[in-house]
Amino acid sequence: MSSYWSQYWQQGHMTSFGNDFSDNYTGALKSLWEEVFKAVAHNNKVLDIGTGNGSIIALGIQINPNLYFTGLDSAKLSLPEIFQNLDKVDFIEEASAEDMPLQDQSYDCVVSQFGIEYSSLPKSLSEVSRVIKPAGQFHFVVHECDSTIVKPNIHILNAGKALLNSEVIDSLRKLFNGLAKYGQQSAITDQLRQKLNSDIASIAAKHASGLQGTNFPVFLKHVMNPNFELKQRKSDLKIFLNELDGQIVRLSDLVEAAMNETKHLQLTTLLKEYGLDLLNDEHIFENGKMIGRYISGTKAN
Ligand SMILES: C[S@@+](CC[C@H](N)C(=O)[O-])C[C@H]1O[C@@H](n2cnc3c(N)ncnc32)[C@H](O)[C@@H]1O
Repeated sequence: MSSYWSQYWQQGHMTSFGNDFSDNYTGALKSLWEEVFKAVAHNNKVLDIGTGNGSIIALGIQINPNLYFTGLDSAKLSLPEIFQNLDKVDFIEEASAEDMPLQDQSYDCVVSQFGIEYSSLPKSLSEVSRVIKPAGQFHFVVHECDSTIVKPNIHILNAGKALLNSEVIDSLRKLFNGLAKYGQQSAITDQLRQKLNSDIASIAAKHASGLQGTNFPVFLKHVMNPNFELKQRKSDLKIFLNELDGQIVRLSDLVEAAMNETKHLQLTTLLKEYGLDLLNDEHIFENGKMIGRYISGTKAN
């Protein structure tokens, strides 16, 4: 899984929502971390699991420059210049939350935003409990399957899978060949066009909004450019299918990571088992819309 994250971070993104939060998080998420970091005592050590390019640490050093931060991620990162020459911040790349190269009881506070839920919770929460000091705090912001972040992605994932399981791609290939052999105006090409349209219509009937998110409609418009030759169409279809495969892997991971009732119960049960006492377990809202869940607490003494 880390390979697509490595590729993503190498593109220089600051947050995992490159388009929506290009500089860093704002709004409810920023406010939440402001509250958290303001309340951490001076000179305390904070560990950020699934740190990415360090968005939460960047917020942390602005809010409370007296803290020491470690960012840990299984991906290869491309950290922004703001972290250069900061002796209170370090990053551990290509290290997993399930097996952290960190000493027992070495952190006062463990945080994670849209990170820890991607890991295997029985192992990673056991590790959190190991590295956190007695009476230390933990603060997790996690994805929720019903959130406005995850829900549209579930529709895209379902549409993408339906597209691959349908006859659409086969019909599109046949239309490419028909166009090359018989031209735009022939009756055979017309039949092939109708077949493709009816295949697309049956997917759109069930997955209208998700289909847009797969970019198939935009791709179709592009590839049907009458000036394109067969070779060009075939090569563009190959690129589209590769991107769709990547999107399906990424969104499957997101959906698997997001809290549903079962996963939430697993998480809270494990916290208890590892001596991590819950203080907050609540939804986070932005403009009245639920965007995730905030889970925090302390390690028992
Ligand atoms: C959605 S991004 C979140 C990045 C950042 N915390 C943010 O809020 O923008 C998830 C990150 O978790 C990392 N990750 C996934 N599984 C992990 C694991 N088992 N151990 C450590 N990091 C992991 C990924 O590499 C990725 O960088």
